[in-house]
Amino acid sequence: MLPKLIKHVLADSPQSQETSVCGWVRTKREMKNLVFVEVNDGSCFAGIQCTFDMGKGICEKTAEALGFLTTGASVEITGKLTASPASGQAVEIAACSLRVIGQAPAEAVNSDNPALCIPAYPLQKKRHSMEFLREIAHLRPRTNTFGAVARLRSRMSFAIHRYFQERDFHYLHTPVITAGDCEGAGAMFQVTTLEPAKDTAGAQPAGGLDYSKDFFGKKTFLTVSGQLEAETYASAISRVYTFGPTFRAENSNTVRHLAEFWMVEPEVAFAQLEDNMALAEDFIKYIFNAALNECASELEFFNAHVEKGIIENLQQLANAEFTHFTYTDAVKELEKASAGNGGLFEFKPHWGCDLQSEHEKFLTEKVACGPVIVTDYPKEIKAFYMKMNDDGKTVRAMDVLVPRLGEIIGGSQREDNLERLILRMNELNLKTEDYHWYLDLRRFGTVPHSGFGLGFERLIQYVSGMANIRDVIPYPRAVGQAEF
Ligand code: 4AD
Ligand code: MG
Repeated sequence: MLPKLIKHVLADSPQSQETSVCGWVRTKREMKNLVFVEVNDGSCFAGIQCTFDMGKGICEKTAEALGFLTTGASVEITGKLTASPASGQAVEIAACSLRVIGQAPAEAVNSDNPALCIPAYPLQKKRHSMEFLREIAHLRPRTNTFGAVARLRSRMSFAIHRYFQERDFHYLHTPVITAGDCEGAGAMFQVTTLEPAKDTAGAQPAGGLDYSKDFFGKKTFLTVSGQLEAETYASAISRVYTFGPTFRAENSNTVRHLAEFWMVEPEVAFAQLEDNMALAEDFIKYIFNAALNECASELEFFNAHVEKGIIENLQQLANAEFTHFTYTDAVKELEKASAGNGGLFEFKPHWGCDLQSEHEKFLTEKVACGPVIVTDYPKEIKAFYMKMNDDGKTVRAMDVLVPRLGEIIGGSQREDNLERLILRMNELNLKTEDYHWYLDLRRFGTVPHSGFGLGFERLIQYVSGMANIRDVIPYPRAVGQAEF
């Protein structure tokens, strides 16, 4: 049988028979005859207080173990669950025995054998900087903050699946290794079994590598998005969604970019841009409500220690009307704001420019005072697959922007007209042969269809208020960072 989790022990009422808890020591305090040990197993925020009354028949072995007990050690503690006289906890354990499972020394342990030297346990009871914790990403889940992030990620994933499953969307597993560049941004990691630096003579082959000899017989990459494959299944079973890792070799060293992140991508047949916008709004509100209802103690912690006001902010968003702007109107707002106020933006906005983070912040925080959906962007700054508007200049794109963070969702109605799609691909020098299967969707039973992608880490960042995206994924991959 699995050991009982501390969250369940804490919910029990006092009992006459003995119970055991397992976990890691957070603190040990001594007061007269009493030794208080707080044990945490990450199943919830609170640890359980285990009180040893040294005057009451504590065996020698336990007394000795208590003497050496340090923060971080793993333990099993047995005793009776009793009502706690201390404030902030209903129950505690009147402990009678302690078994130390694994030590965590408070001071470095030296040995003649270098492999057996152990440094001091780095997570001593004090505040640590996020930068420091990133260096010990394998131990940081033992802190309150990272335990909370891990539980939030897990529950939000479940809520995302629930949202789509309850609405007849099918979970689609799209390939991680692909031959095409969905977003056309050229920010792909190559996958190869060829050794780039060598031919048989040890020199770089003159004509470059021969990819017909590579594992897949062609050049391949890690996917930047499952969208194109999702479109094929939406064009058959109507509603699908993907939820998987995606990879971008962008050289953006920012607090909102990762090289490896998880994306949720619904794709719906017979849906236009307006339906897509309504789906995105409903989805994101559902997820915010799920966070409020299902992660209440985590949000209280983030509210108190990470970003003040986050709960109120999420409540507002969960009920807000999303403001709609066309890109053209959004740029007019930005131009109006920067006219005669040249220093307002680092990048001066103009029609045709990609919206910068500062522009997105301005639109959500100053103009709309809430979430914004920007639609109909210039075709030049969006991917090839987006449906062309009749003006021939803009496409049926939509970005959902939220205060504090900016873009959280990017999506569009897809070009379902074969000729227009080929024309656009030719303009962008994309080889139509490479996309023969994608074009077939427009050759056989084409339908209007739409979808979007939500960056899962951006969502977690938003909900938790964590400042840096590298702190909402267990092992961040970013430029120059692939530790662990
Ligand atoms: O706007 P993007 O690039 O859109 C797509 O990939 C489409 N294929 C989606 C679709 O229509 N099915 O990315 C979608 C979202 C962004 O809004 C952002 O939240 C997140 O993915 N994202 C990133 N998150 C973390 N690090 C990065 N480098 C990201 N790039 C995009
Ligand atoms: Mg985007």
